[in-house]
Amino acid sequence: LYMCGCSLSTSSQRKSQFYTDPTEAVKDIPSGATILVGGFGLCGIPENLINSLLKTGVKSLTAVSNNAGVDNFGLGLLLQTKQIKRMISSYVGENIEFERQYLSGELEVELTPQGTLAERIRAGGAGVPAFFTATGYGTLIQEGGSPIKYNKDGTIAIASEQREVREFNGRHYIMEKAITGDFALVKAWKADKAGNIVFRKTARNFNQPMCKAAKVTIVEVEEVVDVGTFSEEDIHIPSIYIHRIIKGDCYEKRIEVVLMTSSTLSKYYRKSSINELTVSLYTLQRRTVQKDLAEKPKPKKDSDILRERIIRRAALEFEDGMYANLGIGIPMLASNFIQPDITVHLQSENGILGLVKPSFESIYVDISRVYAGKETVTVLPGASYFSSDESFAMIRGGHINLTMLGAMQVSKTGDLANWMIPGKMVKGMGGAMDLVASAGTKVVVTMEHSAKGGKFKILDTCNLPLTGKQCVDRIITEKAVFDVDKTKGLTLIEVWEGLTPEDIKACTGAHFEVSPNLRPMQQV
Ligand SMILES: *[C@@H]1O[C@H](CO)[C@@H](O)[C@H](O)[C@H]1NC(C)=O
Repeated sequence: LYMCGCSLSTSSQRKSQFYTDPTEAVKDIPSGATILVGGFGLCGIPENLINSLLKTGVKSLTAVSNNAGVDNFGLGLLLQTKQIKRMISSYVGENIEFERQYLSGELEVELTPQGTLAERIRAGGAGVPAFFTATGYGTLIQEGGSPIKYNKDGTIAIASEQREVREFNGRHYIMEKAITGDFALVKAWKADKAGNIVFRKTARNFNQPMCKAAKVTIVEVEEVVDVGTFSEEDIHIPSIYIHRIIKGDCYEKRIEVVLMTSSTLSKYYRKSSINELTVSLYTLQRRTVQKDLAEKPKPKKDSDILRERIIRRAALEFEDGMYANLGIGIPMLASNFIQPDITVHLQSENGILGLVKPSFESIYVDISRVYAGKETVTVLPGASYFSSDESFAMIRGGHINLTMLGAMQVSKTGDLANWMIPGKMVKGMGGAMDLVASAGTKVVVTMEHSAKGGKFKILDTCNLPLTGKQCVDRIITEKAVFDVDKTKGLTLIEVWEGLTPEDIKACTGAHFEVSPNLRPMQQV
C-alpha cells in the first residue's frame, strides 16, 4: 500500500454510496440479470429491495436464493409477477406458487443442496472457480438429468448436467462450480458510514457470502451509524465488498411459523395454506398460545402416541457433549427429552450453535432468530450465530456428531430418499444432502415404519431420487430399531413390546438379520 498523508481516504470518499430511495438503488438492474438474494425462509430478506424490483418491473431474472419466501412475501412476490425466469435454490418447501410454477413448466429451478449453494457463492466471492464436495455423490445431483424445467406435458425440457467425480483418500467427491451474480441484494442490521456491515443473529445466513460474490452489492440496513460505533474486530463484512447502502424504512419481518407445539396452531397449520398462516400468526400468536395453556389436555390420538414412541426412542441417541443437527418434526421434538444430566449442543444449518426449542410456556419471539424449521427459538449461554457457508463448513467438515432426520424411503444399505417425488412433489433437499454426506457424522433416520396404505418404506433399493447413498447408520420407527451396515445390510436390534421379528418382516420391504441381543424398544 502506497501511503502519503494527503491521499488517505476519508469516509466521504469511500466507494459505498448511500441511498434514501430503495428503487433508486436497484433501478439499473436490467432484465436477464443474475441476482443473489439473501435470507433464509423469511429471516434476513431484503424486503425493501425486493419490493423495489416489483416497481421497476425488471424481467427474466435468475435469482439465487436459498428459498423463495412464501407466496405473498419475499421473493414469492416476484414469482407471482413472473419476473423470475430461473431460481437456484435448495428448498421449495412452503411456497406453494413456487412448486406450482416449477411443476407446470413455467419456472426453471436448479435445486442445489444448501451447503453446496452456500459454498458455491462463497467460492464465487473468493475467486475459486470450482471445488469438490461429497454432497450429492450417488444422487441425481451427480448423475444429472434432474429436471430444471418441465414441459407442459410433464416431460423434462431442461435437465441438470452431470458432475465430474474424483476420488480423494478413498472417498468420492463431485465438482461444483462457483456462483457469481450481477447484483447481490442483502439485508443487514447496521452499516457504519464507512460502509462496514453487521448482521443480527440468524439473519446473517446467505447474506454474508452473497455480499462478496456480485459485481454490485446493494445492502439494506435498519440503521446507519457513525464510524467507530462497531469495534473493527466485530465487523462482519468490510466495506470493500459493499457498493450501495440503503436504510430501509419499513420492516415487516414476518416469521413463517412461531410455535408448532401449540395445539391450536398445529391444527391451523394442517388446515390452512401457509400464507394465511403467516399473516394471522403475526398478530394472533400471543393470544393463541395463551388460550392453549388454559385448555385442558386432550386425549392423544393413536398417531400422536406412535409419534411419541419414536420421539422417546430417538432421544436415547443423545450423548453428553455431542453436537447434533436435528431435522424438523420428530428429531427436533426429541430434543425436548434430552436428559437434564447431559449437555447436547444443537446446531441449525441456518447458522446457530447452542439453540433450544422453547416449550410454549416460555415463548420469546425474536424474528431475527429462527432455526431451520423457521420457528423462533431461544439459545443457551455460550451459543453462537454464523453465516450459512460457515454452518456448512461445520457440517461438511465432520464436526457434527449426530444428524437425525425423516425419510420417505431407506434401503438396506443405508441409501436415503426424502426430497422429491418426480413430477408430483418437490420440497427440495435443503441441507439434508450435505448433512448425510458428512464423514464422521452418525445419521439416524426417524420415520413411521410404513407409508400410507401399508407401502414399504424400508426397501432393498429406493425407487425415489436419493438424498444420499449408503449414509444411514440407524433407523428408528414406532415398531423397531435397525442398525445399518452399508455393505452387510440391516440388523434388527430392538422391537416394540408385543411384536415379533416375524411381525416386523411382514411390514418391511428388505431382508434383515435379527441381532442375538434383540431387546425391547427402549424409551426415555
Ligand atoms: C464428537 O465428535 C468429535 C470429533 O469431531 C469427537 O472428538 C467427540 O468425541 C465426539 N463427541 C461425542 C459425544 O460423540
